[in-house]
Amino acid sequence: MSEVRKIAVIPGDGIGPEVADAAVRVLDAVAEKHGLPVDFVWFDLGAEKYLREGVTMPQPVFEALRDEYAAILLGAMGDPRVPDNKHAEDILLGLRMRLDLYVNERPVQLFHPRLTPLKDKTAAHLDFVILRENTEDLYVGIGGNFKRDTPDEVAINEMIATRKGVERIVRYAFELSRTRRRRVCMSDKSNVLRASHGLWRRVFQQVATEYPDVAAEHLYADVCAMEMVKRPERFDVIVTSNMLGDILSDLGAELVGGLGLAASANMHPGRVSLFEPVHGSAPTIAGKDQANPMAMILTGARMFAYLGFVEAAAGVERAVREAVAREVCTPDLGGSHGTKAVGAFVGELVSGDA
Ligand code: NAD
Ligand code: IPM
Ligand code: MN
Repeated sequence: MSEVRKIAVIPGDGIGPEVADAAVRVLDAVAEKHGLPVDFVWFDLGAEKYLREGVTMPQPVFEALRDEYAAILLGAMGDPRVPDNKHAEDILLGLRMRLDLYVNERPVQLFHPRLTPLKDKTAAHLDFVILRENTEDLYVGIGGNFKRDTPDEVAINEMIATRKGVERIVRYAFELSRTRRRRVCMSDKSNVLRASHGLWRRVFQQVATEYPDVAAEHLYADVCAMEMVKRPERFDVIVTSNMLGDILSDLGAELVGGLGLAASANMHPGRVSLFEPVHGSAPTIAGKDQANPMAMILTGARMFAYLGFVEAAAGVERAVREAVAREVCTPDLGGSHGTKAVGAFVGELVSGDA
């Protein structure tokens, strides 16, 4: 038997534990069906632990995740009792930065016509991927407050773009598009952010010359948001900066059914990578068996694909599509089922029992 791949599960806060539980049950079912050598190990990291022990990401835990695990599956981070989001900064952003997970991949794909709020748009119009640069931009945490809490307060967050950082995500976008419909749209605000996004513009033009078989276009991010609503069919791969990608990916999610279905992957190809849905901890519905587990389940499927379990991953995605088609859904998708029931149904579909 091949080597066991250890997967770290960090359920996290709010709805995180509920959706992580549902997803791991489905992944276990598909792993059993395909005889996959995986071992899920659960980690107690998040707001509860931070409030209890003052600990966010202990160094030995970080090193174990980095050195011993094939992948990390994370539910969500965010708790109203931690208003400065310190634990999320250390755990979620910390893992993205410290593991150098420069690709944040967020697919926008319509599973069923009833799920889009857009008029006259079908699955053929809504099938693209947002690639969000994941290690730079306004997310690097450089800045501070001067004369805090005085009328003269000054607040600064620095926006960072490096040639290396931009080039590697842009190159990834062109490579990905070659497995799809060979179109890449780079979106920025280079009309305003002349230095940082000017660099994006120049690097994009340069890398595009190496991919003459791929159609390369540029849209300012405001227009990109508009076009995502008006003519989503023009998009195949969208590549953009960290902050703009954060915003555009929530918009993208809403075009195809909402955050309850939106999967996401934080990757550095060839290295231990982190898989978490686009959504957050949704504190108002936490613990009520109302959260849609499908985003987390699809995120798990993406993780399996990353680990090379492509057939198993496809099986999970098919099962989610089937559950959506049969309307075995949570209230956000118009259904009347709970988190557990939806997870169990997807698991049965995966195992061939439903
Ligand atoms: P959110 O994504 O948690 O929720 C936004 C809206 O979508 C809410 O109405 C929520 O009920 C709904 N929603 C989200 N996921 C859902 C699901 N699976 N099923 C059904 N409905 C769902 O965003 P927010 O309210 O802005 O943030 C809450 C907390 O989560 C904050 O602390 C924020 O920082 C954090 N957050 C974390 C992540 C992450 O861990 N990756 C992502 C986004 C936000
Ligand atoms: C996301 C989230 C995170 C981000 C927050 C929770 C730090 O919104 O993954 O989309 O801004 O990247
Ligand atoms: Mn977000």
